Amino acid sequence: MDLDHRTTTSATADVRAVRDRVAAHLVGRERETDLLLAAVAAGRDVLIEGPPGTSKSTLLRAITGEWGIPLLLVEGNADLTPTRLVGHHNPARVLREDYTADNFVPGPLVEAMRQGGFLYVEEFNRAPEDTLNTLLTAMAERTITVPTVGTVQALPTFRVVASMNPYDAVGTTRMPTSVSDRMCRLAVDYQDADAERGIVARRTGVGSARLVADAVALTRATRERDDVRQGSSVRGAIDVALVAAQLAAMRGVALPPAPDVAPPRDLPADYTGVVWDAVLVALSGRVHLDEIAEQTPEGVLREIWEDHFLLQPATAEPG
Ligand SMILES: Nc1ncnc2c1ncn2[C@@H]1O[C@H](COP(=O)(O)OP(=O)(O)O)[C@@H](O)[C@H]1O
Ligand SMILES: [Mg+2]
Repeated sequence: MDLDHRTTTSATADVRAVRDRVAAHLVGRERETDLLLAAVAAGRDVLIEGPPGTSKSTLLRAITGEWGIPLLLVEGNADLTPTRLVGHHNPARVLREDYTADNFVPGPLVEAMRQGGFLYVEEFNRAPEDTLNTLLTAMAERTITVPTVGTVQALPTFRVVASMNPYDAVGTTRMPTSVSDRMCRLAVDYQDADAERGIVARRTGVGSARLVADAVALTRATRERDDVRQGSSVRGAIDVALVAAQLAAMRGVALPPAPDVAPPRDLPADYTGVVWDAVLVALSGRVHLDEIAEQTPEGVLREIWEDHFLLQPATAEPG
């Protein structure tokens, strides 16, 4: 497969087949798949901006999996020093042997360059500025120089992919324009309810379309509240469905069959009770309130649960 920077006719035909195979790993996200794949196939480094749980890792795993190259993940935080990114010399061996190329332990940046992988830096904006500058050099030059080791030349498929959470209030320094000027940018947001139901069904194997729909509706409602700074991603809905299925089995509660179009207020109390307990366990740690909110996460979730099952049946019906 020709994955060189230059777009050749064969690479163009290739990218189309790869696009179809990558898309098969995801529910929806056709447009995001196309845009991200086009950017990396064009040899570009990319910043993906979106809240947690919006398919960023899934997209990257699908692309690197199809390309047959490694995906190296690092989390951007104050501890991500240039040394941690580039690598270090084994201190015990340095004492015996002095600094040699042989006792160098490569960090994820050098590994990604040597193996032609994607270096995925999550929460990019939280990394220290000297780390951003190290990345900048690697992006601009496609080589870096490591003292005693020499010049590391990146294979053609090496890419830097960074992610940022737009809701992130801490450590959000403006990206230096020297960095942002070298990257393409893809914004991703939450998917629609239909896609989220597809994701939850696919990731959990829960057969009750009713439970899948309720888990998704309750989770999505956490994102609609004025007193919630950041609600739960689809990960919360996946957990609601999984925990509820286990609780139902333990308590001998029947999950409503699929498809079930009963208005939510007509659902049996033992079922809605199971969903409530699952919501507490799965979502209470995932609802981040505004600082000025006088509510607790449990209080917010109780209101959402009551709105869904008792007050506004129309909002909860599947489809
Ligand atoms: N479009 C999608 N298709 C299938 N599964 C998805 C999709 N989006 C998210 N998921 C699932 O939701 C969870 C979170 O997705 P992930 O890609 O890890 O999010 P992010 O990296 O943006 O935080 C994972 O379990 C993943 O499998
Ligand atoms: Mg991720």
